[in-house]
Amino acid sequence: MPLLEARKLTAFYGDFQALYGIDMTLDQGETIAIIGANGAGKSTFLKAIAGLIRGAPDSVLFDGEPIGALAASDIVKLGIALVPEGRRLFPSLTVEENLRIGAHGGKMREPKAQGQWTLDRVYSLFPILKERRSSAPSTLSGGQQQMAAIGRALMSNPRILLCDEISLGLAPIIITDIYATLPQIEAEGTSIVLVEQDIVQAMKVADRLYCFQEGRLSLAGRPETLTREQIHRAYFGS
Ligand SMILES: Nc1ncnc2c1ncn2[C@@H]1O[C@H](COP(=O)(O)OP(=O)(O)OP(=O)(O)O)[C@@H](O)[C@H]1O
Ligand SMILES: [Mg+2]
Repeated sequence: MPLLEARKLTAFYGDFQALYGIDMTLDQGETIAIIGANGAGKSTFLKAIAGLIRGAPDSVLFDGEPIGALAASDIVKLGIALVPEGRRLFPSLTVEENLRIGAHGGKMREPKAQGQWTLDRVYSLFPILKERRSSAPSTLSGGQQQMAAIGRALMSNPRILLCDEISLGLAPIIITDIYATLPQIEAEGTSIVLVEQDIVQAMKVADRLYCFQEGRLSLAGRPETLTREQIHRAYFGS
């Protein structure tokens, strides 16, 4: 059974339909990437999984159980955490307070159990955050802010980490640094869904790739089985 499954997931903003019948699976230990052009529905898809917008109750399954009707806070408790597009740190709190907030309402595990994230462990993953722990987020570089947003999500001890464009606006060397931490997060037993506009980056880390086009799934498969032409067509249309 997949850890997470979307079945014919649709999503609306008022009368506007943003997703049309998306099917997706994520297995335990897997990293998948969702690519697609601006407005394709990638963020909407993550928001629907995280309970921030509603689809049909049984259109999202976690461990085989429907979660589509649950409140976002209950979905965090189950072990699904979102690193939102644009980082969304709390501007009036320090870096450390932002991290601590992530632990509220999260999933409690046995101390030192696999996947049990503490401040110390987040600081060892991103040492710069420890140095900047008393700073306001606005004084951090874009890369440091992204690290704080990832750290905040990890503090809820997720079994699934949903990452929305973590490389957006960052210098290549910083992107490399942040991506280098993903295997360490996976090693804690966390599966990852990456939304990424950078196709090359997505192909490097993803076990499987999903491409969205105008709210529809246009392509899915293992990166090594897909041709550049297929991906180009699925991404941009033809
Ligand atoms: N709050 C909203 N109200 C109305 N329409 C919205 C809202 N958020 C997104 N949309 C629309 O839904 C569609 C999908 O948007 P979404 O943000 O999911 O795309 P995306 O693939 O994440 O794009 P991007 O790469 O720009 O982040 C777009 O047409 C967008 O204009
Ligand atoms: Mg988006």
